[in-house]
Amino acid sequence: MKLFIEKDYDALSKRAASILIEEISKKEDIILGLATGSTPIGTYKELIRAHKEDGLDFSKVKTFNLDEYIGLDGSHPNSYRYFMDEHLFNHINIDKSNTHVPDGKAEDLEAYCKEYDRLIEESGGIDVQILGIGSNGHIAFNEPAEELSLGTTVVRLKESTIRDNARFFNSIEEVPKTAISMGIGSIMKARKIILLASGKNKAEIMAKLLKNDVVTTQIPASLLKLHHDVTIIVDEDAYSE
Ligand code: F6R
Repeated sequence: MKLFIEKDYDALSKRAASILIEEISKKEDIILGLATGSTPIGTYKELIRAHKEDGLDFSKVKTFNLDEYIGLDGSHPNSYRYFMDEHLFNHINIDKSNTHVPDGKAEDLEAYCKEYDRLIEESGGIDVQILGIGSNGHIAFNEPAEELSLGTTVVRLKESTIRDNARFFNSIEEVPKTAISMGIGSIMKARKIILLASGKNKAEIMAKLLKNDVVTTQIPASLLKLHHDVTIIVDEDAYSE
């Protein structure tokens, strides 16, 4: 596991983007696993800058997002499809048909989840997966639990996650209670994983993750310790404990 401790959010975003830019430059048809949330926004801004200023080419890049709220379609401002369009896809030369965000309105959710994993495999598998981390240690929406799903699945969000994510909605009641999430196995199959953590509200979970030499499904991110190519990038606030 590689650890980068950056001064602040800006430096963290530049570090993450520089790794991605290098990977995209090496493999023009790279398959990226992408996350939403506050943390990767700065990284996406840097990728947009690299596209606009340095001609970074996304025309052959494919993407798979980690998760989506159930019940929201892509035109809903709080959907993760909308988020990705706004924060990245609309500003680069990616072919939208190469971008995949789980469909929160899928009719047969179980079949859809299986199909999502199949599509990832059929595309050749994720080369680089970007992850944020929940204050409770979740990655994607794999919440702390006794058992974790390997494949993409329907998950019920924990109260703490609903509270954390309420900041994006008008009220906490509007936050969907369920989501489609890539499973731990889907994530661990990625060839390279980059986990980002920024801000004081991530300090406690990062301390638990980095200090304890254990893995536990109660901290889903700890399972990443079993992966052979994980880079963790934190800012000083997230590393402060
Ligand atoms: C988002 C996702 C989540 C977030 C996590 C951190 O697609 O899968 O696991 O990465 O909740 O969110 P932020 O970055 O908003 O603190």
